[in-house]
Amino acid sequence: MKIAVIGGTGLIGSQVVKILNASAHEAVPHSLSSGLDLLSGQGLREALKGADVVVNLTNSPTFDDASPSFFQTTMDNLLAAAKAAGVGHAVILSIVGADQVPDLAYYRAKVLQEDILRTGPVPYSIVRATQFFEFIPAVLSSTADERTVRLPATLLQPIASVDVAQAVADVSVGRPLMGTRNVAGPEVFSLDELGKITLAARGDHRTVITDNNAGMFAAASGDALIAKNGAVIAETTYREWLAR
Ligand SMILES: NC(=O)c1ccc[n+]([C@@H]2O[C@H](COP(=O)([O-])OP(=O)(O)OC[C@H]3O[C@@H](n4cnc5c(N)ncnc54)[C@H](OP(=O)(O)O)[C@@H]3O)[C@@H](O)[C@H]2O)c1
Repeated sequence: MKIAVIGGTGLIGSQVVKILNASAHEAVPHSLSSGLDLLSGQGLREALKGADVVVNLTNSPTFDDASPSFFQTTMDNLLAAAKAAGVGHAVILSIVGADQVPDLAYYRAKVLQEDILRTGPVPYSIVRATQFFEFIPAVLSSTADERTVRLPATLLQPIASVDVAQAVADVSVGRPLMGTRNVAGPEVFSLDELGKITLAARGDHRTVITDNNAGMFAAASGDALIAKNGAVIAETTYREWLAR
């Protein structure tokens, strides 16, 4: 299969390209740095020429109130071009429980992205993943100072990006799901506990203070971000990943 991977230089996109090309498919990465701008549409028609599948792994440059307009414009451009090129399957990567956290602009933006795909003209699949292990350090540093890291006790079920990439690759070469596949890591942690494990593994002596108002994940409560029945559970544990 010929697969255009938009955002193919990113954390997930680059791994999806590698997995697909190692399994005898032809995956071609496209992104801003290769001259494709999904916001303006520049380079899109050429990128989709002859593609059986398009996988959209781009990300908004900000997680704030500007993110809905990024996903609106990029999805409108993508679907119009995919339809015109006769692409038979469009795949996006969203977030488990995004619809359960309406107070976060970025999560609202991901739900909007899903809605545009679902109501659009191209057969589709949505992969929803939980928070990537690789994203945890950025979460910690956003509420850290020299001596403390403030984190809410929000429940998360994080996953290794390589396991997300495998799930996206698997879905991309299958029949369009016309629905959603959820993927999650093998363990549930509270975020403050995850912070303690991460700091200890790095020999970082700062103190984690549980603060249910700190940072973006304060907006999620209960089991909103935990995978429910039917999710694919990946194998890599957080401690295994930290030890690599
Ligand atoms: N973080 C999480 O825990 C999490 C969880 C579930 C789902 N997700 C979703 O996973 C997806 C991929 O995330 P990621 O971390 O792999 O992203 P990333 O590493 O930030 O990569 C973003 C990619 O998008 C490209 N890009 C950005 N703006 C573009 C534009 N206007 N036109 C074309 N390409 C553009 C970048 O290209 P250049 O490299 O050329 O600049 C890069 O290839 C996102 O949609 C995100 O919402 C994230």
